Amino acid sequence: MFHLNVRHLLLQQRLRSLTDTAFNPKMGWTHCIVLFLYVSACVSWRLPEPEPVMHGAVQSPNYPQPYSPSLQEQWDLSVPEGYQIRLTFTHLDIEASAGCYYDSLTVLYDAKILGKFCGHENSADGHHPGTQPILSPGNTLTLIFQSDDNNPERHQNVGFSAQYQAIDRDECSEPEPDDGSGPLCSQICLNTLGSYICSCHHGYELRPDQRSCVLSCGGGIFDEPEGYLFSPGYPNPPPHAVSCQYIISVEAGFTVSLNFTDNFHIESVDTEQGPNCLHHWLEVTIPEREPIKLCGGKSPGLIAANSNTVTLDYHTDDEGQSRGWSLDYSTHRVKCPIPGDVAMGRVTPILTEYFYRDYIFVRCDQGYKLMMDGEEITSFSTMCQNNGQWHLPLPECHIIDCGEPEPLLNGGVTYLSGYQNQYQSVFQYHCNEPFYTLTGGVSVTFTCEADRKWRSNHNDVILTCIPVCGQPTKLITAYQRIIGGREAPHDSIPWQVLLTINAKRGGGMVIADRWIMTAAHDLTHDGKPVSHETVQIYMGYSDVKTMLGFRVFAASIHIHPEYNLSSSDYNNDIALIKLQDPLTFNSSIMPICLPAEGATYMTGEMGLVSGFGITTIYPPRLTNRLKYVHLPVVDQKTCSNSLSKMRKTRENVPRLTNNMFCAGVPEGGKDTCLGDGGGPFALRDDGQFWATGIVSWGVDCGQQGRYRFYTKVANYMDWINKTMQEK
Ligand SMILES: *[C@@H]1O[C@H](CO)[C@@H](O)[C@H](O)[C@H]1NC(C)=O
Ligand SMILES: *[C@@H]1O[C@H](CO)[C@@H](O)[C@H](O)[C@H]1NC(C)=O
Ligand SMILES: *[C@@H]1O[C@H](CO)[C@@H](O)[C@H](O)[C@H]1NC(C)=O
Ligand SMILES: *[C@@H]1O[C@H](CO)[C@@H](O)[C@H](O)[C@H]1NC(C)=O
Repeated sequence: MFHLNVRHLLLQQRLRSLTDTAFNPKMGWTHCIVLFLYVSACVSWRLPEPEPVMHGAVQSPNYPQPYSPSLQEQWDLSVPEGYQIRLTFTHLDIEASAGCYYDSLTVLYDAKILGKFCGHENSADGHHPGTQPILSPGNTLTLIFQSDDNNPERHQNVGFSAQYQAIDRDECSEPEPDDGSGPLCSQICLNTLGSYICSCHHGYELRPDQRSCVLSCGGGIFDEPEGYLFSPGYPNPPPHAVSCQYIISVEAGFTVSLNFTDNFHIESVDTEQGPNCLHHWLEVTIPEREPIKLCGGKSPGLIAANSNTVTLDYHTDDEGQSRGWSLDYSTHRVKCPIPGDVAMGRVTPILTEYFYRDYIFVRCDQGYKLMMDGEEITSFSTMCQNNGQWHLPLPECHIIDCGEPEPLLNGGVTYLSGYQNQYQSVFQYHCNEPFYTLTGGVSVTFTCEADRKWRSNHNDVILTCIPVCGQPTKLITAYQRIIGGREAPHDSIPWQVLLTINAKRGGGMVIADRWIMTAAHDLTHDGKPVSHETVQIYMGYSDVKTMLGFRVFAASIHIHPEYNLSSSDYNNDIALIKLQDPLTFNSSIMPICLPAEGATYMTGEMGLVSGFGITTIYPPRLTNRLKYVHLPVVDQKTCSNSLSKMRKTRENVPRLTNNMFCAGVPEGGKDTCLGDGGGPFALRDDGQFWATGIVSWGVDCGQQGRYRFYTKVANYMDWINKTMQEK
């Protein structure tokens, strides 16, 4: 080959100088022919060894013309390795001589003569091969044809012609090689075209020499969940010098257990320290553990690896005797720790053991919610992982809460059980007693339910705190008049209002959290209604100086539409003031009740009249303290008569209408006076004071035989109701 490469190089150079084309090794031949003209070296170039052929023909020179004398010709036939050559003569005609002494064709294999032929078919002398083919023991055959220099019959002898072909050798049926290496195959020989292969019986495997068989280790990788392993040849003793490895490797999340059968024997050496696995052993290697070397005559029994891989190395040396071992291995899913309990929750399913891929779920008891890392979660599950750990820690169950209940105006919440608005807390609304009472149902309770909503035991109730009217926390027991009347104890007339309009005093009464009732004449000036901004409203104290520090503002004023602004007629002397902000009632500020439907009174009934009006006329003196007087209701006839009597001496005495009543004592001395206008005349029924009249008018104050007139509130209920609803 070296020779050839040099030539190639040579050729390349030549060709480049000859042509401009790149050298193509496949084109080498063509160019070489061109090259002959130039390079003498190329003439001596021999063809490389020809590829073995499967068949061919060979014949003597000049055939079928007679051969010439003094010939010495040789053919080296070859077919591919693993085949034999079969040579078949189609014709042979060589000068016959005893022992083919003069002319002959000699057939050789590996310098061994297979035959030397001469003569022709049917010739008596010579040695003709006949029609029987010649079989070479190997894949080569050498033919040597020679003729001597003298042949009288030369012209009749044409030589020979023969065909050869490759014949498959049956190596398997050939005798053992004589190099003493034993049979070609130690167990099974299989002939193939041009070759053979060796194979082994079950339980054996072919050695690297491809000829001999040894007992199989049965080693390799075992990845099935269970299996059976045993030493080579088990239960027979294994051959010497085995070195077998078995790797059990199953899916992560499973652990392997080895269960050795009782039939266990590996040679051990007794030393002072006890039996020692010196020459033969079975080594069990588990990750992250010291390897264990097993030997002796006692089965190790069960070995739990707690790992998904185990490696077993079985080793014996050239001597000694071990009978071997066998084992079953099985796998178990990795175990996770028992998850434990969740307070106020349930872990499901409850099992005695939990394994890889098992799920657990946690649900909280009714009224509790799942919490994890401080966050609420809707559901929880966790899986046992292949490392024997749960992929999430257990959550907690926290009690739910319904949040603060809706506040109730002028009321509050009383918890009957539970606290912090938690699950199953129960509360009830209450109103700020004794100034408000609950309407809608006192027995209504609210419970915090599992859906985190407050549920009442009555559907669709609307609870409100309505003000308590006409029930002062302090009651007046003594009777007195206002002119020279008594000072009202604090909180005894909590509906009393002081009005200041253009520096004039007037009275009024609280009838609702946004409404003051007064007399129409208080809110007029020069025949026109005053503007609501000029109306200063005070309440809550019986002392004027203190009270002036706490002004309440009017939002609008509403004079009765039938009140005649431009006359001195007091018919319909009633007005309402709407406040900007609602009042919160307490012992100092409380509404007076409005007349119930059909509320009546009787002549002589004592009413409570109060105000900050003048206490003496000559000289007129305004009080700084709230005063009160008790006056009886006078029958309408007496009122009328007193007016008729008055008209005899006076002009412009206002008329008495059915919207008025009068009150007072015939002897006089007790009365309401200037500055009291608009104030209340209150009767008390069933423990409640109600607004019977509004201080309206009179002639002089506290004079004998004269009464003071009051607007009859009961006549205006429709208008009051309507105004309070609409404005
Ligand atoms: C081990 O194998 C024996 C039979 O060889 C059997 O009786 C025993 O139950 C097995 N032990 C385990 C834990 O599988
Ligand atoms: C109001 O009184 C004046 C004076 O007395 C009178 O002229 C007028 O007609 C009255 N108006 C109404 C609506 O009654
Ligand atoms: C009553 O309420 C008024 C106004 O809200 C307040 O000024 C007063 O102090 C209260 N009085 C009492 C006794 O609570
Ligand atoms: C006024 O309204 C109250 C409640 O809004 C009602 O109880 C009363 O009967 C009404 N009075 C009249 C006269 O309409």
